[in-house]
Amino acid sequence: MLTSTKELLEKAQKYSYAVGAFNLYNLEGVKAVVNAAEADKSPAIIQILPQILKYGGPPLIALFLEAADSASVPMSVHLDHCEDEAIIELALKAGVQSVLADGSKFSFQENLAFTREMTVLAHAKGATVEAEIGRISGTEDGMTVAAKEAKMTDPDQAQEFVAKSGVDFLAVTIGNVHGQYYSEPRLDFERLIKVRQRLKIPLVLHGASGLPALMIQRSIELGVCKFNVNTEVRQKYLQFWREYGETNSQRDLLDCQKAATGAMQEIIAQKIRLFGSAGKA
Ligand code: 13P
Repeated sequence: MLTSTKELLEKAQKYSYAVGAFNLYNLEGVKAVVNAAEADKSPAIIQILPQILKYGGPPLIALFLEAADSASVPMSVHLDHCEDEAIIELALKAGVQSVLADGSKFSFQENLAFTREMTVLAHAKGATVEAEIGRISGTEDGMTVAAKEAKMTDPDQAQEFVAKSGVDFLAVTIGNVHGQYYSEPRLDFERLIKVRQRLKIPLVLHGASGLPALMIQRSIELGVCKFNVNTEVRQKYLQFWREYGETNSQRDLLDCQKAATGAMQEIIAQKIRLFGSAGKA
């Protein structure tokens, strides 16, 4: 059932677990998340990147919303990493529950002005807003931030930013990256503690693919209640088609679609259990 992202995250915050937010592209991804969430009686968030929204347009967002609504567990649809006001408006108009108004490439003041404006817009539609302070490096479809542009979240700035922008959730940068971790992940938990001491709102950690279980657990203890996951699920999907295509080229496409869904569902189920949201629907 469609539920507000705020409700999902506030409940997670209260009961110390996190909700997985999975970046999706198509029906197979949607079925994988819904099946995994229903099987484990877990809430979940469907995420869409602006480039995918542009590509799929209203039919794709309608699919995401309808799938979330007809699921037997609470789910929301969230627009991920968007710096374009027109796309935020489009997504809100389509009925998404929340957006990441991403002004992280701007200066602090510009990010604040942009985020505040998008927050007014979203709140007027009954939706909520995630913001990013600091800057996450790495690569995701159509979005690359070089390591040298990455910036850790400053706890004092985060406090000022949230107070002045009125955002509902905050994505922190504490050493997490989008995409592949090319060396051992290292998260700055001292920094996360300082952010948590200054803020009451739900915190979000991007780049959850590849993070070891202990880091996930520690992040949850320190107030993270939404993890964004893309790379591990996407890689599983691509790997599936590479291997399956080579050995089963005569099979029905529908069989392939079902098997691709199953492959992604396995990874998603692992994440749901790791995040502690199983049984929390
Ligand atoms: P990963 O691709 O590293 O899982 O990160 C996803 C993400 O943070 C999307 O915003």
